[in-house]
Order: sequence, then structure tokens, then C-alpha cells
Amino acid sequence: MIENVHISDLAGHVGSEVTVHGWLHNKRTSGKVAFLILRDGTGLVQVVVSQGEVTPEVWARLEELNYETSLGVTGTVRADPRAPGGHELSLTDLYVVGPSGEDYPIQLKEHGVDFLLEHRHLWLRTPRQVAIMRVRDELIKAIRDFLHERGFVNVDTPILSGAIGESAGTLFSTEYFDLGTAYLAQTGQLYNEALAAALGRVYCFGPTFRAEKSKTRRHLTEFWMLEPEVAWCDSECNMQLQEDLVFYLVARALERCRTELVETLERDISRLESIVPPFPRLSYDEAIAKLRSLGSSIQWGDDLGAEDETQVAQDYERPVFVYNYPKGAKAFYMKENPDDPRTVLCDDLIAPEGYGEIIGGSQREDDYDKLLARIREEKLPEEAYGWYLDLRRYGTFPHSGFGLGLERTVAWICGVQHIRETIAFPRTLKRMYP
Ligand code: 4AD
Ligand code: MG
Repeated sequence: MIENVHISDLAGHVGSEVTVHGWLHNKRTSGKVAFLILRDGTGLVQVVVSQGEVTPEVWARLEELNYETSLGVTGTVRADPRAPGGHELSLTDLYVVGPSGEDYPIQLKEHGVDFLLEHRHLWLRTPRQVAIMRVRDELIKAIRDFLHERGFVNVDTPILSGAIGESAGTLFSTEYFDLGTAYLAQTGQLYNEALAAALGRVYCFGPTFRAEKSKTRRHLTEFWMLEPEVAWCDSECNMQLQEDLVFYLVARALERCRTELVETLERDISRLESIVPPFPRLSYDEAIAKLRSLGSSIQWGDDLGAEDETQVAQDYERPVFVYNYPKGAKAFYMKENPDDPRTVLCDDLIAPEGYGEIIGGSQREDDYDKLLARIREEKLPEEAYGWYLDLRRYGTFPHSGFGLGLERTVAWICGVQHIRETIAFPRTLKRMYP
């Protein structure tokens, strides 16, 4: 077994000699003393090497230590409040596990974003990227905690599907043996609806795929989506759930990711501290009126673009719901609004600070005839939806749900401008390497 103490556990070893493994994050020599900064994934620690206290071989070895050399260091743990992480190691021994070339691509200078993306596998080792991944992980845990506390059951929906889930425009497809074309899931929603009739409150949480031709800072071709689906829940109840969830997520990040947010990402957390219920709600009609009063030429019936969303949300510190969009602007499965059949019972939740739509949700059409008519209107292949229509044929029920884009949520909470930094290996129109 490899003898190893994690940097985050050093507090329990003050005064003892331990061995720590990691990667060389930085090195500085001044005369007969050298300072190494070691990173092991749990933290950073400064290692002090005094020429007089190590063998000449160990001192000589310092020469070959380039950035990102992997190594083991043995030394005595000293508490030092000024040191990063609060501890220091006084080195007694050191051995190199894996050398690293002088040409290590990511140096401490500024690199262009294309260069960084090309070296994403190494860029991930830098403090900012580590902080973003930790926030992402905490939000994933928080999502699951929130839903399980409320009695939701996690279900897993297929990635390969014969039915178009959202819209025909952004599909990835592949040949599926003798059965024709399979599509990569744009959403797990339709399957969630079947599962909600079995389990009441369900959610799926996994990768979804959209062949987005748009090159924006909000779009990936592969992104993670959380999708709850709730039986006996109308559009109002759906928005309430979204509000509760988003408040919970922001509070969790503030509670458990303060160091990442404040120290590494330099996030202005006062902006996050003001995210408290209730969130403002604007009907689609009100949003259009507001945009027109601001000089926009948007027409009733148009979907809101990214710029429109930013304008609608600009006067608010909190996320804003825009609800009940025109039917033509939204997906086929949304329930017709009985009070205005030109519109559907749906909502988008728009994050503040220009981060745009983080959630899209709706009450689902539970009327067989209306749903079939919408499928035909949208020219979707009817035969693929027999099972979905069955849900309206055998015990139809009011139900609602939504999709929260994980990367957009992480981007907003971290204050990261482009969502490509919020997933380890982003897939975009122009990139699937590394
Ligand atoms: O609004 P969307 O398309 O909704 C659905 O897919 C529904 N079927 C969800 C449901 O009701 N179960 O997508 C939901 C969210 C968006 O609000 C956005 O946050 C994110 O998914 N999203 C994307 N994130 C990154 N890249 C893309 N290309 C995205 N498309 C949507
Ligand atoms: Mg949407």
C-alpha cells in the first residue's frame, strides 16, 4: 500500500512525519532554502527544503523538478497560519514518481482560450478549474438532497430514443440496427411522464444532447439536465418547486463553497445572497410589453432570444419567471392554457446578471385529442408516440415538470462567463477534442 496523507488531513498530523504525494504546483529557491508548493487534489501545501537538513542527493533532485512533476515528499508537519492551507512540511526526503518536461504547456502566464481548450486535460489542474468542478459537484449533491428530502425517486431514462423529445431541429441521430434511426436524448421528460404515473414524483439527471448550430456562451451540444416530473401538480405548483430548488442550491453553494467562490473565483457573493423567494413573475404578455417599451421590435408570438432575456431580467436581483408563452414558440407537449388557448402553461426561469434561461418547465398536455393534434401540427412521426399517447388513454392525470441546465446554473453561481468552463470536457459546435 502507498503510504500517503492527504493535504486536507494535515491538521491531524502536526508534529509528526508524514508522506504526501502530489504534483509540483510551484517552486522557488532562495540560496540554501527551497520552497515547493505541492497539490494533491485536496489542497495545496508548502514544502520547505533546507539544504543543511537533506542529503546532497535530495538537494540535487530539486533541479529536475519542473511544473507538474509528480512526487512523494516526506517531512514534518508544522502549523503555520500564513501558509496556504495553514500547514507547512519541513522536508526530510523526496522522490520523483513521474517527471514532467520543461515544456509543460500551461505556464503561469496568460494563455488564449483556444490554447487552453486544446489542453483542457491539463488546464483542469489549475485552481480556477478545480474550484468550478467543486462547486459543480456540490450543486449535484444539493440537487439530489433537495429532491430526496421531498420524496422524489431517481429514475434513469434512455439516451437512445426513437421519439423526438423536444424539437426536430437539433437532433443527433445514429443508425439503430434494423430499426431505423435512433436519436440521442434531448430530454428524458417523455419517459419521466410515464414514470410519474408509476412513482408520483420522479427525476432523471443525466447528459442530454442538442445539435446546436449556435456558437454562444450558453450552448453546449452535450450538457447535463436535471428533470423532475410531478403527478398532480399544475403549472403554479411547478414554479413553486423551481423557486424552492433554486433558492436551496444558491444557499448550499454559499454555505459549502465559500472558499471557492470568494477566494478562487472572486465571485461577488452579495449578488447570490440576494437570491431569496419570492422570485418575480411576468406573463409572456407583460414581458413583450416591457421589451417593446424598451425599444425592442419583438412581436407577440416570437420566442425570447438571449438579448431579450437579459433585458427582461435586468431590473431584478432575483431570477425571474416568464410564464405562458405562445404555443408556436414552445414544444408540442405543453398544456394549452384554458384561459387563453393561444398560449401554453409553461415557464422559463431567467437568471440575473445576464445568465439567461436556466430552467424551462411546463404543465403537460393531458388531453389525448389535443396532444395528438399538436403532434400532427408539428409534423412529428406519430408512430413513435403511441406509448406516449397511451399515458393519456389509460388514466390521464395533470402533471408538470421542468429541466434545469446544470452548466448554466454552475456558470451563474460561479460567475463564469462561458459555460464551456463548467463541464470537464465541453462539447461544442467546434470542439470534441480532448
Ligand atoms: O428548455 P429546455 O429545452 O426544456 C426541456 O428540454 C424540457 N423537456 C425539460 C422538462 O420540462 N423536463 O431545456 C431545459 C434547460 C434550459 O433551461 C437550459 O438551462 C438547458 O436545459 N439547456 C442547455 N444548456 C446548455 N446547452 C444547451 N444547448 C442547452 N439547451 C438547454
Ligand atoms: Mg427552454
